[in-house]
Amino acid sequence: MTGAWALRFLLASLAVTPLARLMRWSALRPYRRTLGLLCFGYASLHVATFFVLDLGLDLGALGEEVRERPYVTLGFTAYLCLVPLAVTSTRAWQRRLGRRWVALHRLAYVAAALAVLHFVWLVKADLLEPSVYGAVLLALFAARRLARPR
Ligand code: HEM
Repeated sequence: MTGAWALRFLLASLAVTPLARLMRWSALRPYRRTLGLLCFGYASLHVATFFVLDLGLDLGALGEEVRERPYVTLGFTAYLCLVPLAVTSTRAWQRRLGRRWVALHRLAYVAAALAVLHFVWLVKADLLEPSVYGAVLLALFAARRLARPR
């Protein structure tokens, strides 16, 4: 459940910019950071639950899982992408990084794609739910390109 919420909040945060542009509704923009941080909070809870309940805080076992189970490798890589996004989510970092901030925050799409693949790999048989998330991600990617200022 925590993983699903992390992915939902990530997709919702990615929806903010295209929606704000298409609907000329700039009051939406501050919600992008809130939704991104909610994603990070749920993702951290998700990873912590796995680390504490499934692995009993064994760092060696985590390394082994990341190396040997592709769905864990994908989830772990998605989480690693989210860390710099959460750290640099403040206005101060946005000012400090300038254009590089925008480039860095494209990592959110990479994290979302990895999270969808993590979900696909995990469920194997019933692909309906992960496919819905995948379709939403593709639609958001297309909307971002369509709504890009010229
Ligand atoms: C080290 C990183 C991660 C590990 C070890 C991990 C592990 C897991 C495990 C064991 C499950 C199955 C849960 C169950 O059957 O009850 C799961 C499900 C899931 N994970 Fe992850 N995960 C990681 C990172 C992430 C991240 C970063 C996201 C999203 C941004 C994510 C999204 C999901 C989703 C959508 C599901 C299926 C729905 C759910 O059970 O919540 N995971 N993950």
